[in-house]
Amino acid sequence: MLHQNCCDILKSDLCEDACPLEKALETGKPVFSYEIVISNKAGDKVPVNITTSPLRTSDNQIIGIVENFRDLTKHKGLWGRLREERNKAQQYLNIAGVIIVAINEEGTVSLINKKGCGVLGYREEEIIGKNWFDLCVPEDVREERKDTFKRVMADKEQEVEDYENIILTKLGEERIVAWHNATLRDGSGRIVATLSSGEDVTIRKQTEEELIRSEKLSSLGQLAASVVHEVNNPLAGIMIYVKLLLKKYRNGSIQMDSTEDQLLKMDRELDRTTRIIRNLLDFARQSEPSMKPIEINKVIEAALLLVENQINLENIGLEKNLDPQLPVVQADFDKIQQVLINIILNAIQAMPEGGDLTITTSVAKHIRINHSYKDTLRIDIKDTGIGIPKENLSRLFTPFFTTKEKGKGVGLGLSVVHGIIGKHKGKIDVESVPDRGTTFSIYLEVMDEQKD
Ligand SMILES: Nc1ncnc2c1ncn2[C@@H]1O[C@H](COP(=O)(O)OP(=O)(O)O)[C@@H](O)[C@H]1O
Ligand SMILES: [Mg+2]
Repeated sequence: MLHQNCCDILKSDLCEDACPLEKALETGKPVFSYEIVISNKAGDKVPVNITTSPLRTSDNQIIGIVENFRDLTKHKGLWGRLREERNKAQQYLNIAGVIIVAINEEGTVSLINKKGCGVLGYREEEIIGKNWFDLCVPEDVREERKDTFKRVMADKEQEVEDYENIILTKLGEERIVAWHNATLRDGSGRIVATLSSGEDVTIRKQTEEELIRSEKLSSLGQLAASVVHEVNNPLAGIMIYVKLLLKKYRNGSIQMDSTEDQLLKMDRELDRTTRIIRNLLDFARQSEPSMKPIEINKVIEAALLLVENQINLENIGLEKNLDPQLPVVQADFDKIQQVLINIILNAIQAMPEGGDLTITTSVAKHIRINHSYKDTLRIDIKDTGIGIPKENLSRLFTPFFTTKEKGKGVGLGLSVVHGIIGKHKGKIDVESVPDRGTTFSIYLEVMDEQKD
């Protein structure tokens, strides 16, 4: 190539329009990183990166130009494609409507998409390389979550695939996120990172709570009429006794024995009426969610107290098989009562010509709930009603699914039931035979022996 003009050798388009060599000569400054295509001896096109810089003598005279070429063939090929793929992947990640975040062994964020930045309120560069737990996890659970993460990384604990937890935004707000997780392993099978996608369910959660409340109001409406009835009857009875006793008292014909008997009857009726009313009020109250050890049989009795009258009115026989030896469960009394009332009201509505309602509690060990096996107690609510056609079974728990005429149902009862049972990490099953009847079975995890 010696003694030849460089553009004769390179045969690049650039030589005519914007020769970097000339530019370096003109400006006296290096020209960096032009990407051009040149031709090799065989005439093949070769992508190169070219840098030209003036060559000077000690008294600063320019006496030549040094041209530096870097062959980009490999780069353009494999690396270029990789780079393109990476950019594409980044685009996909950014389009995703969910948070996507990768956390490496040390707990630092190695990747986060646009949605993730949006929810958290940080710019990408403010999160990448930072410790996820220090930045985005509320302080009260930080150490605990770090520990769990460490155990997952050390392969000592299996990563829970799906869960919900609270994260902290830049502004210090808490958001509820439903995560789906996977662990990433290197070629040798060692865990090197976790990749999680998360959905911000904060608003949904709030709406869910509101839904539970509004659904409660609607079942309260249904209950109120029958409870008024339930309370009215004994009150009418009591009034008659009071009048009778007053009359006897005035004309001096009171007899000790029968009077005591009547007073005792009134006492019992008043006791029952007060309990019903108190129960209705308790049920109507907007209670804060509270998980406490509770006895399920007591919840069933409390629910029945509110629906018993309706059961009697509809000519339905009630059978209770409550296991007196049931272990306690950690649960929200009010919410479980709401679940039972919803299911029982449905059962009543499914038996317009009367029938039998059977409520059974029992211990059910080793029940599979969300990928693991648990010891549970089981509540069966069985009716002999119209049953549910097969094609409807999968839609029962979706909001607004109803087969009832307007005014009778809006289709929220069972979706609320499902939400509440989910919150208790329990399970609900349905079995139904059209024209024969339906059984709803609820499973709730029993508390560990040690914790009692
Ligand atoms: N015990 C039952 N027997 C027959 N069908 C039932 C029973 N429980 C629920 N269903 C069906 O499930 C649907 C949804 O119930 P739900 O969510 O409580 O809403 P709603 O009672 O307002 O219709 C009902 O409309 C009915 O078709
Ligand atoms: Mg209903």
